[in-house]
Amino acid sequence: MALRLGDTAPDFTADTTSGTINLYEYIGNGWGVLFSHPKDFTPVCTTELGEVAKLKGEFEKRDVKVLGLSVDPVDSHKGWADDIEETQGVKLNFPVIADPDRKVSDLYDMIHPNASDTFTVRSVFVIGPDKKIKLTITYPASTGRNFDEILRVIDSLQLTANYSVATPVNWKDGDDVIIVPAISDEQAKEKFPAGWKTLKPYLRVTPQPNKGKKQAGS
Ligand code: BEZ
Repeated sequence: MALRLGDTAPDFTADTTSGTINLYEYIGNGWGVLFSHPKDFTPVCTTELGEVAKLKGEFEKRDVKVLGLSVDPVDSHKGWADDIEETQGVKLNFPVIADPDRKVSDLYDMIHPNASDTFTVRSVFVIGPDKKIKLTITYPASTGRNFDEILRVIDSLQLTANYSVATPVNWKDGDDVIIVPAISDEQAKEKFPAGWKTLKPYLRVTPQPNKGKKQAGS
């Protein structure tokens, strides 16, 4: 059955380009991003893996461990890593799971038979420190992912895990946020000392609480 938000991310141990990895040990007490690729030596995947390698520092800043997956064996991944370095100008600097027996692909429902019987689709799972699934995205093989968007969602997930806020359309780190409706104005006075703007009783906008900006008027 497909994994849903809030489900426990299934644990596994798998061969990767960095040796044998256990998912839970790899993530530790931080966050994880597990993402699948249709196949080695394919053009879109080559650009995606290069991009994730370039963004390593951004993931590290957010305490996120990344873990790729493709159904080909480790030797194939290692040969492909040379091509990634040559064409994308960056070394593969994170593990990619080799899943020829589809153990992990099946566990995470990454093969969608009506799209392809053999290739994994482009799945993304963001896993929280509690090992629950916080985000799932599925792209077709023909569309490369936007990893800036994945970082943006992680910023929102990490913020909303710690404060009683939600993030509005197209929000980026540092933009104003929304006070969740479950918080009364009385409670909000304590939680949001910078104040807020009430556009509707259910739509109250406040500066991002961990950025220290001041709200003009409330
Ligand atoms: C690619 O990664 O380029 C790709 C993989 C499978 C089908 C189409 C494109």
